[in-house]
Amino acid sequence: MIVIEDVLSQDVLSEVSAALRELRWEDGRNTAGATARRVKRNQQADLSSRTGSKVRDVLLEAVTRHPVVEAYARPLRFAPPLISCTGEGDTYGLHIDNPVMGKGEARLRTDLSLTLFLSPPESYEGGELEIETVFRTESIKLPAGSMVIYPSTELHRVAPVTSGERFVFVSWIQSAIRDAAQRAILFDITNLKAGLARSFPPGSPELLSLAKTESNLLRMWADT
Ligand code: NI
Repeated sequence: MIVIEDVLSQDVLSEVSAALRELRWEDGRNTAGATARRVKRNQQADLSSRTGSKVRDVLLEAVTRHPVVEAYARPLRFAPPLISCTGEGDTYGLHIDNPVMGKGEARLRTDLSLTLFLSPPESYEGGELEIETVFRTESIKLPAGSMVIYPSTELHRVAPVTSGERFVFVSWIQSAIRDAAQRAILFDITNLKAGLARSFPPGSPELLSLAKTESNLLRMWADT
């Protein structure tokens, strides 16, 4: 998994925080799958309103245009995002995200889940995103404007909020690179390319060779 800091500028964050107060909220169970519904206790914003769709577009743009998201996740498509509010006494118990979301053209396989934190961590108690990996449980509570992307294959939960309100923006990614190990190799190569570009001139044989390797691995592995 990866944490990406400062996905949102302070200006965007203030604009979004103000807009959240104007949104209409509904029971989060409406969008949960059968197993998740039993453990989901939160509110979700109605993003069909004018303010709702504007907030959604601003946040989706910041996420989808981020170069680290592109390099790490290799997104083929994003699921329609949600904005959720976990208030005092709310929680989202241990669950697995739906493997396939949407219908028709919008149908996608969820390879990666993303949570973009919208509330300052000091504004609420509890509400950690807890992800059960093979080795340990990762407990994640990030500054407002920072985001975690993690494999949708893992069980996870939102710890009960004991005071305040936790607002997050959530979406899912179908990666062009289905296999996580292949995705990790490509991410290493992208990072290596950026590192070497500081030492080698543009167009050098070393950089060209690495660009060729990256391109040809993408040709071998990428869904289109
Ligand atoms: Ni989930």
